Amino acid sequence: MKVGMLGGGQLSLMLAEAARPLDIEVVFIDPAADACAATAATQIQADYDDPAALDQLARQVDVVTYEFENVPSEAVRILSEDLDVFPAANALATAQDRLFEKNQLVALDIPVPEFRSIDSLHDLRQAVMQLGMPTVLKTRRFGYDGKGQAVIRSEQDIESAWQSIVEAPAILEAFMPFDREVSIIAVRDRQGNHQTYPLSENIHKNGILDQSYSRAEDPAFEQAEKYISKLMDELEYVGVLALELFQVGDKLYANEFAPRVHNSGHWTIEGTICSQFENHMRAVAGLLLGEVKLTGSSLMLNCIGEMPDVRNIKDLPGVAIHDYGKAAREGRKVGHITLTAESDMALGELVGKVQRELG
Ligand SMILES: Nc1ncnc2c1ncn2[C@@H]1O[C@H](COP(=O)(O)OP(=O)(O)OP(=O)(O)O)[C@@H](O)[C@H]1O
Ligand SMILES: [Mg+2]
Repeated sequence: MKVGMLGGGQLSLMLAEAARPLDIEVVFIDPAADACAATAATQIQADYDDPAALDQLARQVDVVTYEFENVPSEAVRILSEDLDVFPAANALATAQDRLFEKNQLVALDIPVPEFRSIDSLHDLRQAVMQLGMPTVLKTRRFGYDGKGQAVIRSEQDIESAWQSIVEAPAILEAFMPFDREVSIIAVRDRQGNHQTYPLSENIHKNGILDQSYSRAEDPAFEQAEKYISKLMDELEYVGVLALELFQVGDKLYANEFAPRVHNSGHWTIEGTICSQFENHMRAVAGLLLGEVKLTGSSLMLNCIGEMPDVRNIKDLPGVAIHDYGKAAREGRKVGHITLTAESDMALGELVGKVQRELG
């Protein structure tokens, strides 16, 4: 079986690596000359909306998926004429636009931070009056890793926030005084069966995910699972879906969802029986889903900007280093390190040791 992929970054790389033991080959489109998935899959180097490249891909694969939500909807439309694309165009279109996304969540009775749609400076001033401060202004489209966002803490911030997002269509959101951030990742197959991974607890630094920790028997799991199941069924979703949530007291508010494998689920490679990457490929290829049970306790540390010096930790039991082979650049996700142990206590000791070594 051959699966076509839009995007050749680290998610695509890990999907292709998970596909190999299933005897699934991956062919991907990516314009970059140094796409990191090229070490595990075949690349068609072209823009995502290049008709010749889309045609070349369509002719050699059985089904298509993607590793990021900013793929041109036109590319998905063209590919959908001859092939199944999973997750389907409706899920992609909803996740690509923060306003559609929020409206979808509201329609399913999933709580979200209060928000307003913003098309002008006038809208923004009015919305700040209604929601109070602090608030977060976010572009409706093309945001990632906290880009396209500005926090408004005082009236002086309003105009500069509007300029900083280049006056693009946006939403304004109440800033949540969250106790913690969590995400829930689930997978649904073509028959509608689904499985939900244990909750991840996430810590962000400068708007970028820094750490994710696997949470066995988390009290928020049941609520989070209800929300993601509703969303998957509503979208008739096929593949892995991730839902990011803020917890305030014992209440969960949805932040956003991603129609793809998610950075907060990278620990599932070592920490569960069947990783998010394998399960995504299984769902897309029409195979049975694998077990999402934990094999122990895990913590994932993102490597941002450049890979740290891992000489002193790489041989420790329970340490898995994932270097995506990307050039160093400020704010760029270049790799991650997963630490696994049989209990939370043993994991705590390993984390301490690794953090001392990494400094
Ligand atoms: N309304 C909010 N209240 C409090 N914190 C927020 C809010 N919105 C965003 N943040 C913080 O900024 C981070 C990034 O925001 P968000 O998930 O909306 O952006 P993104 O660019 O899509 O990020 P990513 O690609 O990392 O998921 C959140 O994980 C959270 O830490
Ligand atoms: Mg996010």
